[in-house]
Amino acid sequence: MEQTHLAGRLRRVTLAQRRLEIYGRGGDTPATPSEKEALMKAMLYTTYGSPDVLKLKEVGTPTLGEQDVLIRVHAAAANAGDLHLLSGTPLMIRLVAGLLKPKHQILGADVAGQVTAVGRAVTQFRPGDAVFGDLSASGYGAFAEYVAAPAHAVALKPAGLTFEEAAAVPSAALTALQGLRDEARLQPGQRVLVNGASGNVGTFAVQIAKALGAEVTAVCSTRNLDRVRSLGADHVIDYTQEDFTRRGQQYDIILDAAASRSLADVQRALTPRGAYILVGGSGDRFLQVMLLGPWRSKKGGQRFGTFVKKPTQEKLAFVKDLLETSRIAPVVDRCYPLHEAAEALRYLKAGHTTGKVVITLSQDKRT
Ligand SMILES: NC(=O)c1ccc[n+]([C@@H]2O[C@H](COP(=O)([O-])OP(=O)(O)OC[C@H]3O[C@@H](n4cnc5c(N)ncnc54)[C@H](OP(=O)(O)O)[C@@H]3O)[C@@H](O)[C@H]2O)c1
Repeated sequence: MEQTHLAGRLRRVTLAQRRLEIYGRGGDTPATPSEKEALMKAMLYTTYGSPDVLKLKEVGTPTLGEQDVLIRVHAAAANAGDLHLLSGTPLMIRLVAGLLKPKHQILGADVAGQVTAVGRAVTQFRPGDAVFGDLSASGYGAFAEYVAAPAHAVALKPAGLTFEEAAAVPSAALTALQGLRDEARLQPGQRVLVNGASGNVGTFAVQIAKALGAEVTAVCSTRNLDRVRSLGADHVIDYTQEDFTRRGQQYDIILDAAASRSLADVQRALTPRGAYILVGGSGDRFLQVMLLGPWRSKKGGQRFGTFVKKPTQEKLAFVKDLLETSRIAPVVDRCYPLHEAAEALRYLKAGHTTGKVVITLSQDKRT
């Protein structure tokens, strides 16, 4: 994960300094910034901690690199990754996020907004383009009015989606897609079980597995059964009533976003050549699968693996196509204004969202 860009870019500057920086660059950088654009509001955190450490501040808009686009953020979305960065836990994360204090000072990987400027080397986008993307590999920073991101981290926003809906897509959908298509190598007709089906990743996993031709079983709590059914799940299991590993059913793929059952238990629910792919749910389980996965996996037989999402434009384009052809749709749970980002993260942290928690920065627009 490349997590240092934004900290480097983020400086407090006066309006005069800011004008000099931008006017001086020339080339095809747009755009004389208006005074409004030279400073921006952002939710900053300078120490690790609970959502209480987030403060609304005014800072300079990010500097634009040659390969970057500057995005006026219309909506961002909150992810479990933001909670990890905010708290600096598990401690391992500090190796990349900053040992004693965060290198990133602005959270937010999922973004949807409008390009207001492009770097000299960018040919794919123009000011005015509506885009969406996942900035988790390129510095985060979407909990702000503007964010600079490498052009390869974004794609044109899917037609027909609001900015809020578009922001709800990238991180979760790309994770679900990578888990099912690339890690589990899903084939049409396979039986797929999604554990944690009502969460961010789970809601996309159910829909993407269906779009890829699977028979899908979704595991969630009682209150989310109908919602998950409406996403297209063929079967639903209420984990408060039933343990999916003890029903005598076996699945070709188990995509696990909750890590609620032991590896020995899930092994029982896998077909002899089935794949268990851990998305998340617990840091311990992540380590366990990394260390024991290769040992438990049998040649030509069951596979146990985990992965770290790699956002790419190819995956964004794949997901954009699924959205535009109505084969998948984002689920927005709640929207919060930027200054209530801490509240949004508290809600996410409680662990029972139904879809995405979105931060809204502008009036909704479909473009
Ligand atoms: N590998 C990667 O690159 C990657 C990428 C993104 C996320 N992640 C990780 O994946 C995990 C899930 O992320 P997320 O964003 O989808 O989280 P989320 O939105 O909080 O969803 C988690 C879901 O798990 C469900 N759940 C809780 N207890 C459960 C249980 N005992 N059995 C089944 N489901 C249960 C909850 O649903 P109910 O309300 O129905 O209980 C909740 O909706 C997190 O740990 C995150 O860090 C990993």
